[in-house]
Amino acid sequence: MCGIVGIVGKRAAAPILLEGLSKLEYRGYDSAGIAVRDGDKKPVVVKAKGRLSVLSEKTDGGKSVKGSCGIGHTRWATHGEPSEINAHPHVSDDGNVIGIHNGIIENYQELRDKLIRHDYKFYSGTDSEVAVKLIDYYYKKYQIGPIDAIAKTMVRVRGSYALAVMFEDYPGEIYVARKDSPLVIGLGEGENFLGSDVPAILKYTDHVTYINDMEMARLTADGVEYYNLDGDKIEKEVVLIDWDAAAAEKGGYEHFMIKEIHEQPGVIRDTIGSGIKGEPGSRTVNLESFGLTAEQLKGVDNIVITACGSAYHVGMVAQYVIEDLTRVPVRVELASEFRYRQPILSEKTLVVVISQSGETADSLAALREARDLGCHTLAIVNVMGSSIARDADSSFLTLAGPEISVATTKAYSTQLVAMYLLAMALGEAKGTLEPAETEALIAELLTIPEKIEKILSEKERIQWFASKFASARDVFYIGRGVDYASCLEGSLKLKEISYIHSEAYAAGELKHGTISLIEEGILVIGVLTQSALYEKTVSNIVEVKSRGAYVCGLTTYGNYDIEDTADFTVFVPKTDEHFAPSLSVVPLQLMGYYISVMKGLDVDKPRNLAKSVTVE
Ligand code: AGP
Repeated sequence: MCGIVGIVGKRAAAPILLEGLSKLEYRGYDSAGIAVRDGDKKPVVVKAKGRLSVLSEKTDGGKSVKGSCGIGHTRWATHGEPSEINAHPHVSDDGNVIGIHNGIIENYQELRDKLIRHDYKFYSGTDSEVAVKLIDYYYKKYQIGPIDAIAKTMVRVRGSYALAVMFEDYPGEIYVARKDSPLVIGLGEGENFLGSDVPAILKYTDHVTYINDMEMARLTADGVEYYNLDGDKIEKEVVLIDWDAAAAEKGGYEHFMIKEIHEQPGVIRDTIGSGIKGEPGSRTVNLESFGLTAEQLKGVDNIVITACGSAYHVGMVAQYVIEDLTRVPVRVELASEFRYRQPILSEKTLVVVISQSGETADSLAALREARDLGCHTLAIVNVMGSSIARDADSSFLTLAGPEISVATTKAYSTQLVAMYLLAMALGEAKGTLEPAETEALIAELLTIPEKIEKILSEKERIQWFASKFASARDVFYIGRGVDYASCLEGSLKLKEISYIHSEAYAAGELKHGTISLIEEGILVIGVLTQSALYEKTVSNIVEVKSRGAYVCGLTTYGNYDIEDTADFTVFVPKTDEHFAPSLSVVPLQLMGYYISVMKGLDVDKPRNLAKSVTVE
């Protein structure tokens, strides 16, 4: 997820571009760049690795770059590591086309090969450079205008994009195109703007229009024209933004956490897309996205997953899923324990380190310990170029984009996807999964985003429930199998942002002590998505209910008998039960969020916590 901005008008563009990018840094901050054109002179392109402040210093706050027409980009690397050469804007070989891109071009490799066959050269490892040069290719091949060249590109690429492009032959003009990535146009007096989100332009105008998928626009100082894919002009309704600047950075949401909860369908879709290949009916896992080969996987005879916090909970889910699909033994270890226990590993052990930040000290140390013991280490990270990504033998990049809220949600969900894909890849390599079974699993996995959207559409009911328990002092989460793993995550979500003590228990373990804590009014949340364990967990719910607990039952549609036992029920859509944790975690995230909000706490920055624990 990256941030793009643009302005065409009469004022100096560079300082405004930097200001706009500063409002979008939460969308990506590993590198940035601007391209500004002064009249019909050649555009000046300045790029820098690191935070936006590096680019700002390089351009003296924008003062050293002249011109009133320009585009800017702040990057979160998905293809090509964070570097100045990979930073946007990207430029066609002869400088004819300059562009910036937010999104993912899934078929960029085949397009790059095609362009190389037509004598194009490539200087970066990015999919975005391919998109810019493909526009240039069509512009020259068919001798057509910018809109038609962009339209041809949109038809040819697969993936998501918000593109902003300048053409040498068209000074004072910026062209945009959109599919799946956000793009907003700001309408000013004698100046017009573009941005990934409203925050980038709200300082200059509150009159905006929204570009829909497969639409384009042409921005000049005098106005904005909108086009459909056929190149026909279309009209756009002007919307008045009534957000304040702070709210705008959260896309209109009150907190980053609730925004990121809502981003889960999209980032899960992106992450699945990056990890599979083939056409419907014969899809399989794209092993290259893991940096692994089938031979390597075939040689694995046991797996150790090591991580911290929520990432550890992903490992707990993965343990059940991988063992069920592959029969390969999996052990999950807290990284802070693993690193000091002289782990017993062999060169046939695959060690998987899961980390959103890729910088967690305990997880990094665990990785290095495993590597020194000769194991193949696989990192599942959300930050390209992070320490854990760099030190691992191979890595898989989750495409959650920057996660601002300390409490992880979308990164957790994309890590689950990564582990499901790894389980399928291992199952195929081990012969425990037939290709048809992998296809069926992938087809079902691709329904998860829409199923999460359904859960989110009913969030008010969970908000009501949360309001009843904002003053709770002790909460218990119980479940069996992967439901127990989901309980661990649900409990942490509640603890870390609402400061309410809670515990997750394997439901069958309650009678071995904890049930003594159950008394009148204690909230117990039962998670029951696994059909084979459903009746057992219902029995455990009856046990706590008979001791006065107030029970919330979280299960799948169809298990309506739960309403005879639980005081409150939350239903999630049915799915392959291996993937149920991706659905059951959403109501648990929402419960934690709403209770924290009810208590008036700092949801995004809870006390005593940091987004990345880079110390022991
Ligand atoms: C999760 O909500 C917490 N913020 C925390 O447990 C986090 O998952 C843990 O610190 C691991 O961080 P990492 O994924 O960046 O390694």
